[in-house]
Amino acid sequence: MTALPNFDLSDQVALVTGASSGIGRHLALLLAAAGAKVALAARRSDLLTEATLEIEAEGGIAVPIVLDVTNSDSIAAAVAETERALGPLSLLVNNAGVTIAKPVLEHTEADWDQVLDTNLKGAWLITREFAAHLVARGRPGRVVNIASILAERAIPQGPSYCAAKAGLVHLTHVLAMELARYGILVNALAPGFIETDLTRAFLLSEAGKRLQARIPLRRLGRPDDLDGAMLLLASPAGAYLTGAVITVDGGHSVAAI
Ligand SMILES: NC(=O)c1ccc[n+]([C@@H]2O[C@H](COP(=O)([O-])OP(=O)(O)OC[C@H]3O[C@@H](n4cnc5c(N)ncnc54)[C@H](OP(=O)(O)O)[C@@H]3O)[C@@H](O)[C@H]2O)c1
Repeated sequence: MTALPNFDLSDQVALVTGASSGIGRHLALLLAAAGAKVALAARRSDLLTEATLEIEAEGGIAVPIVLDVTNSDSIAAAVAETERALGPLSLLVNNAGVTIAKPVLEHTEADWDQVLDTNLKGAWLITREFAAHLVARGRPGRVVNIASILAERAIPQGPSYCAAKAGLVHLTHVLAMELARYGILVNALAPGFIETDLTRAFLLSEAGKRLQARIPLRRLGRPDDLDGAMLLLASPAGAYLTGAVITVDGGHSVAAI
């Protein structure tokens, strides 16, 4: 009989950024349920501890790590602390992100810097740190970047967010090419609209409701809609995938009306 693909993560040690809420929190719980030891990283330590306890209550192994992805010292400390607590890192999920919704003419330089520093520069800095660790020790690994359908589609009031996500997608391509020789696979997951702290206010607005009506599957995404793609990108089943962007959006980005 043909062997089924292997989605087991029991040998893996994962670091998930932005794991204090929303998609990142959900993905951290998913990876733990699939067998990985998980470091949950973000700035709000109380929420990280809460999610860690939830994983431990289910029999998983997790650790909360305070991390600011805009600060390279904080990144170096988080990677070292993860390895101290859980063993050799093998999977990085770059999920930390912020958005500032303002029209182009009102978007300040500080707004731009905050969004780009978190969503793009932060992902690059931590991937560089992660990859340096693995390469120095001759270990393979995986990176999953949480991009967005807004990497390719424009939305009003989103200059910094859309530019950051477009940058993250192309950074995924470049890193995939350059890190393949070390056995480090780099892919991106591009969700459509999912209700979280990041999107709630917009999705409840009239513009948000109009946007939802254009999704071919006629509903918003949920964090667990990302589970299949995430496990594929993290597990032995995805061993020949690198430089890919998997869109999970209910058909939103292919709809013309
Ligand atoms: N929701 C959607 O519809 C959607 C669609 C496509 C892509 N995404 C992407 O999915 C990711 C998660 O977003 P979400 O929707 O789940 O929103 P969320 O609940 O607001 O989560 C954002 C996470 O990023 C963390 N974060 C922000 N700045 C950080 C920093 N400087 N250092 C470390 N962590 C930081 C936050 O934690 P702390 O505040 O505790 O640091 C939080 O855990 C983002 O990259 C977002 O762009 C979301």
